[in-house]
Amino acid sequence: MIKAQKGTKDILPKDSYKWQFMEQKAIEVFQNANFQELRTPIFEATELFARGVGDSTDIVNKEMYTFEIAERSLTLRPENTAGVVRAYIENGMHRLPSPVKIWYKGPMFRYERPQAGRQRQFHQVGVEMFGLANPAADAEIIALAMNYLKALSIPNLSLEINSIGCKECRNGYRENLKKAIEPELDEYCPDCKMRFEKNPLRILDCKNPKCQELLAKESIQKAINEEFICPDCVEHFTEVKKYLDILGIDYNVNKLLVRGLDYYNRTVFEIKSNALGAQSAVCGGGRYDGLVEMLGGESTPGIGFAMGMERLYTLMPEITEPSIDAFIVTNFQEEAFKLSQKLRSEGYAVDFDLANKKFGKQIEKAGKIGAKYAIIIGEDELSSKTLTVKNLATSEQIKIAKDEICTKLK
Ligand code: HAM
Repeated sequence: MIKAQKGTKDILPKDSYKWQFMEQKAIEVFQNANFQELRTPIFEATELFARGVGDSTDIVNKEMYTFEIAERSLTLRPENTAGVVRAYIENGMHRLPSPVKIWYKGPMFRYERPQAGRQRQFHQVGVEMFGLANPAADAEIIALAMNYLKALSIPNLSLEINSIGCKECRNGYRENLKKAIEPELDEYCPDCKMRFEKNPLRILDCKNPKCQELLAKESIQKAINEEFICPDCVEHFTEVKKYLDILGIDYNVNKLLVRGLDYYNRTVFEIKSNALGAQSAVCGGGRYDGLVEMLGGESTPGIGFAMGMERLYTLMPEITEPSIDAFIVTNFQEEAFKLSQKLRSEGYAVDFDLANKKFGKQIEKAGKIGAKYAIIIGEDELSSKTLTVKNLATSEQIKIAKDEICTKLK
């Protein structure tokens, strides 16, 4: 038997209503804030991610689904910020009124070791905003993330924020950190040894227990806690925090938060839930003021976030599964066809028994599938141009004129 691939999952009909709810809320919350949906292709040129996400990242180094077709190297998107930036540049969106506000949803692909909350094909919903470098934009994006999570009624989340400075001030920090780490570099994991050369800040969020133990040492904590970012970056971060305070959004400043993608500068953030175990981040985002230019566009600041929908799904409370309005019970199949067509065209969710089973079986089925009403057409109803409508929750039953059905259902 051919099975689904490791790290992929079917979203079954019994669960899809919750996915549709998440998608519907995304439309509502993001579009209420004047964001518009952008749908980009699932695969892009490999170079887009190598350059955009960064060749020192785990994503680009070990997690991409890359294949060659007609001598072109293509990659299934591991995330969507790079793709959105590519589309922004390619479609001349910089000519649109600023800021350009985009949201998206869809599958992403990373060849990671599957575990709870981590898949190889997973889904993200996210937003990107282009054209604003000021701290109000950061606060707006963070508030939008919180609003979406609130709309899904997900409780007990914590927001972590940090500023990783700009290109200039980060260089000084990087050197300080390297100096602090170097004496014991041999004891770090092989990944961290590689990061030491390519991107030493990434060592800070290594999950290896031995590395974490080493990082807890005083000399390294001192390097981490020293205020390294330049006065402009400090001011930006202070303003972001001020706006969050005004909005009543709680946060913790986590100086170890550096994020696993290379494009970030200044504000980075994550939203976590204790209920998720090791993979606790439901949302990750931040500012990426250099990315548009780096991918060939005009210098344009950007900021955004993405959320893992499988993780949101796990945290969402139960919601009522939508049920169909009516099931037509009859052995006059022509009547069932005609009535179902009419009711469906009026916007009602209606089903009937195509197999023309016995009357009793049909009534049973109406109950089983959770229909609100059974609309019964027996001989009596047929000859008197009436319908019997049975409320399946209360078993109450009334007879109505056939052409009254729409008003009655309403
Ligand atoms: P990211 O932190 O790599 O950021 O992913 C965002 C979220 O996607 C994570 O917090 C997590 O919920 C979910 N996620 C990531 N990998 C997996 C996986 N293998 N299985 C299940 N869920 C996963 C980005 O992707 C950036 N593009 C976010 C961003 C947008 N930054 C600025 N704009």
